Amino acid sequence: MKILLTGGAGYIGSHTAVELAAAGYEVVIADNFSNSSPKVLERLEMITGKRFGLYEIDVADKTALKKVFEENKIDAVIHFAGYKSVPESVKVPLSYYRNNIDTTLSLLEVMGEYGCNNIVFSSSATVYGTKAPYPYKEDMETGNCSNPYGWTKLFIERIITDYAAAKEGFSAVLLRYFNPVGAHESGLIGEDPRDIPNNLMPYISRVAVGKLPYLNVYGNDYPTKDGTGVRDYIHVTDLAKGHAAALDFAEKHSGVEIFNLGAGKGISVLEMVNAYSKACGHDIPYKIAPRRDGDLAEFYADASKANVILGWKAEHSVDDMCRDSWNWQSKNPKGYNE
Ligand code: UFG
Repeated sequence: MKILLTGGAGYIGSHTAVELAAAGYEVVIADNFSNSSPKVLERLEMITGKRFGLYEIDVADKTALKKVFEENKIDAVIHFAGYKSVPESVKVPLSYYRNNIDTTLSLLEVMGEYGCNNIVFSSSATVYGTKAPYPYKEDMETGNCSNPYGWTKLFIERIITDYAAAKEGFSAVLLRYFNPVGAHESGLIGEDPRDIPNNLMPYISRVAVGKLPYLNVYGNDYPTKDGTGVRDYIHVTDLAKGHAAALDFAEKHSGVEIFNLGAGKGISVLEMVNAYSKACGHDIPYKIAPRRDGDLAEFYADASKANVILGWKAEHSVDDMCRDSWNWQSKNPKGYNE
């Protein structure tokens, strides 16, 4: 079976490519490298011993995308391609709506033309918005997103759902990720943000490797176990395996199914800092800073649906996440730009 990964050179896409290859799938990657590196392809070959088909295209470009379907019999698509920075989405909302929604519309139209009826979509826990009680469950109301990035995810879920209702035999799995962290155990692929990271784990990694002086801990007066923000961190390899399970499910069903992919456990910022210090063998300097706009005190997944239906659950501990993140960062202090 041949699977197209849009945005397959990115952080989650690349780890998913490894797990799909291990499960016996043939992988084709479409990526414009707007937020990823072509070096990922070499690294993937080192890990898997396989050279994946690559199309350096913008997925919104239908002519370019048709060529992929023309030259390959694509059985299913995992749709990762999209802009993903929360603060950037607040600054340039139209660019987020244009890019994330256009890529999806082009993809669905081309899939329709070529009779490809299976999609797995890279959604986010952010669709539960700011009012949902935690743990989040798939049947909870969505909306009240705090930023345009989150709304693009929710709108795309809607677009895919409406399309699936109109198209007999179409199968869609919407995966709502919690906070993906860590790296492949080889240290050959990992998260490599272009600028100063927004997210906790890549920021801690850069402090650990000496590229940034200290971490700002955004708020220590939340009503949480130690006053700092609590999230559901999931090892990217577990997340990648969740995609393989979702793909298998999509092939055997039709209609739309939604799954949370999280570990189901809340970890605070300070717990993560301490676990990372242990992994890298030295303290991570930090300062307490004011709360960050739009942050919630706490949320984590009820991931039982994925466990019952997909037979999937997160296996890696927080110590594993920190060990693998440090392994990647210390072996690649400049990310892919060595
Ligand atoms: N944090 C810090 N210092 C930092 C960065 C983060 O203290 O430098 C704290 C935040 O305040 C929060 C926690 O670390 O309490 C996690 O923050 P992240 O930025 O790593 O992640 P978020 O939960 O804010 O956002 C992530 C993804 C979004 C997604 C959202 C909901 O980045 O794409 O989860 O699933 F929408």
